[in-house]
Amino acid sequence: MPLMYSQRLRNGSPLLLGAIAAVLWANTAQAQSSSEDNAGSSVGSGIQTSVFGHLPDGRQVDVYQLTNANGIELRVTNYGGIILSLKTPDMDGKFDDIALGFDSLEAYLSDEYRQANPYFGAIIGRYGNRIAGGQFSLDGETYSLATNDGSNHLHGGDQGFDKVLWQAEPFESDAGNGLVLRYTSEDGEEGYPGKLEVEVTYTLTDNDELMVDYRAVTDKATPINLTQHSYFNLKGEGSDTILDHQLMINAPEFTPVNDTLIPTGEIRPVEGTPFDFTQATPIGERIEQENEQLAFGGGYDHNFVLARDNAASDELVLAAKVWEPQSGRLVEITTTEPAIQFYSGNFLNGDLTGKQGQAYEHRSGFALETQHYPDSPNQEAFPSTILVPGETYRSRTVYRFSAQQDLGS
Ligand code: GLA
Repeated sequence: MPLMYSQRLRNGSPLLLGAIAAVLWANTAQAQSSSEDNAGSSVGSGIQTSVFGHLPDGRQVDVYQLTNANGIELRVTNYGGIILSLKTPDMDGKFDDIALGFDSLEAYLSDEYRQANPYFGAIIGRYGNRIAGGQFSLDGETYSLATNDGSNHLHGGDQGFDKVLWQAEPFESDAGNGLVLRYTSEDGEEGYPGKLEVEVTYTLTDNDELMVDYRAVTDKATPINLTQHSYFNLKGEGSDTILDHQLMINAPEFTPVNDTLIPTGEIRPVEGTPFDFTQATPIGERIEQENEQLAFGGGYDHNFVLARDNAASDELVLAAKVWEPQSGRLVEITTTEPAIQFYSGNFLNGDLTGKQGQAYEHRSGFALETQHYPDSPNQEAFPSTILVPGETYRSRTVYRFSAQQDLGS
């Protein structure tokens, strides 16, 4: 249910409800007529296109619904490349939407949402996570970025890739049904150097995978660290917390942070700490332990260094598995990235209302963001995030969805 709708419902005068019904009816009618208009642009039966709404400047925003052979359904909009919903079966074959988000564009554009800024389902860029003090130096020049998270720069700035309109092109291929999203970030946008041409491809395979491919080229050296910021609740979005979900992260180390969540530079073994998820463990088991790192994050909000052994940089390795005992749903994440941010939804506080009209309460969704380490442009010992002209940035992350009675080994 859209954010504004449920808010108004709480006030609930019959007149208002009538007006809301009329608006909803009009929206549905508009969506139907526009999907008819767009019928010619739909590719096959596994992809449906419709109008999501319009930006304040009048530009049209679309929704693409991809379905695979097993009925898994993914809805994506070209505003921010946001994953709006993802329906997958539980172990009894019952489908639920497991991705936190909203049904209307207005909800994503609302002041309330922009202030909370949880980045539900969005593509994050140019730089996923934080850059200390919003500053970095490159080739002898200092660059200043927006400080949109206290004194730090977060997730690409005031208008990151999560808040821009992408050009979208649906496709059908042997790999599955998909959507290519393209965006040109101009030289100087959000303070970053170089014109960056970015392409993100979502492919929904018949093997029940969501494959996300990132590609970018630049005309000046620039930092880049793209990721996907979906929050999942494997019981179904709008359910209670994710604290009973069992999590395995294939990471022997993590990067501890200071009290503004900037890495200190240390790479610390997880062994013997609440950050040891090398064996599947309920997310909530140690989250309230007295621990400086957990206190800084208000829970888990940390970069885990994956065990890539001798894997080539373009080779997928297992990053994480999450299993929810009630539904049996399992998501397995593999990636070419060296790290993953595990965020336990600590900033969710019940203020935002989701698709079922339920408040998104504290820790009612988790995000696992494959990435390079935060603040790498200021940390020489971390793997480089600098893309130079003539080279192509490439990254791939695959989420595989299934359901089973137990997690096994
Ligand atoms: C990332 C960050 C968190 C928070 C969320 C969005 O996971 O590390 O601190 O900003 O995004 O709320």
